[in-house]
Amino acid sequence: MKIITPSFILLSSGLVKNLSVAFDKEVVLVAPLKELLDRFKDAQTIECKADTVLMPGLVNPHVHLEFCANKADLQYGSFIPWLHSVIDKREELLSRCDTKLISQHLEQMLKGGTTAIGAISSYALDLKATATAAQKVRFFSEIIGSSPNMVDALYGDFVARLDESMGITREGFYSGVAIHSPYSVHPVLIKKALKLAKERDLLTTAHLLESRAEREWLKSSSGEFKPFFQKFLSQDRAVNDVDGFLKLFRGLPTLMTHANYANIDELKELSQEQHTLIHCPISNRLLGSKKLDLHKVQEAKVEWILASDGLSSNYTLDGFEQMRAALMMQDELELEPFALELLNGATIRAADALKLNCGAISTGRAADMLLLDISSNTEQILPSHIILHKYPILEVYIDGKAQLGESHGRS
Ligand code: BEZ
Ligand code: FE2
Repeated sequence: MKIITPSFILLSSGLVKNLSVAFDKEVVLVAPLKELLDRFKDAQTIECKADTVLMPGLVNPHVHLEFCANKADLQYGSFIPWLHSVIDKREELLSRCDTKLISQHLEQMLKGGTTAIGAISSYALDLKATATAAQKVRFFSEIIGSSPNMVDALYGDFVARLDESMGITREGFYSGVAIHSPYSVHPVLIKKALKLAKERDLLTTAHLLESRAEREWLKSSSGEFKPFFQKFLSQDRAVNDVDGFLKLFRGLPTLMTHANYANIDELKELSQEQHTLIHCPISNRLLGSKKLDLHKVQEAKVEWILASDGLSSNYTLDGFEQMRAALMMQDELELEPFALELLNGATIRAADALKLNCGAISTGRAADMLLLDISSNTEQILPSHIILHKYPILEVYIDGKAQLGESHGRS
């Protein structure tokens, strides 16, 4: 057992002071120091330097690690030109991406405070790196393909990748199923993959209504996607409409990524079916999507969480940077309550959505925690301060184990 006494602790209800945390692999108790010392007489006390915050490790529920090699290869500003650039550069980007590069990015994410991820994997190129990462991982094997004559081959390849991921036995590694999107996956393929997900009790995720072009294509088989589908897939019609797609997920709470172009009825359906909306503010801005109406999302009582998406549509996988962007973009939401919502959307709610027992400094949760150096002797600290100030991370704990070598030091 260890006991740590930071200046402040970030709970899901807000920041508190004059409390300590007793933990081993899990958080055992949050209470005044004296009470913890009385109850846990053999505990090792960790001496923190002055002026620190202890907060839960960040959870990034949607990242495409296989696109880590991208910096300046892809075209930003609008979804369809971006998609064309992905198709043009995909082979090259994938050839530049290997286990070593992905592991480096995972390590950088760890130092930046991300202790759990949802990895969307198209080719299983990220399996080795995520299987050996320090972080907790929900590894979503993705299925894609709108051509009916490819269904069997694509399903076979998907099951092989899924089986491989389910063969990973390390603690903290879990499998899942990703359906790429309503425009890119044939309904027969979706049904087969979701049936398997149900049989194997696997968590599911999908992209949904990310762009205006997608909305138009699904509604009327027209718009910017039309020449795209004609050119690459010789298709004139969308394989799903929005309602039909959502019906396939009834009774299967799913992580739906983006949904910028979902209307109020669709948002209500997400809420009713207990789907979670994954918001990727930087990715949305770079690909020309309209800003997610978070007020409307909240009014419809849709649970939302925060993610980066991949480096194919972002300049960083850093969790604090995603919160900063959202805080600045969502200018109609009141600052401090929204800052706390963002912190919860990047920790406890994201962990719950990924079905991981972390994301909060609370009895029984995994002791996945960050110790921040706030470097100022202050009476009060606000949620926005934590998001904005790039406070140095002195230590990252996963399952109670110091990942940076307890370099915050004993004074
Ligand atoms: C497909 O494989 O059918 C597909 C892939 C990307 C975008 C659209 C369709
Ligand atoms: Fe994505």
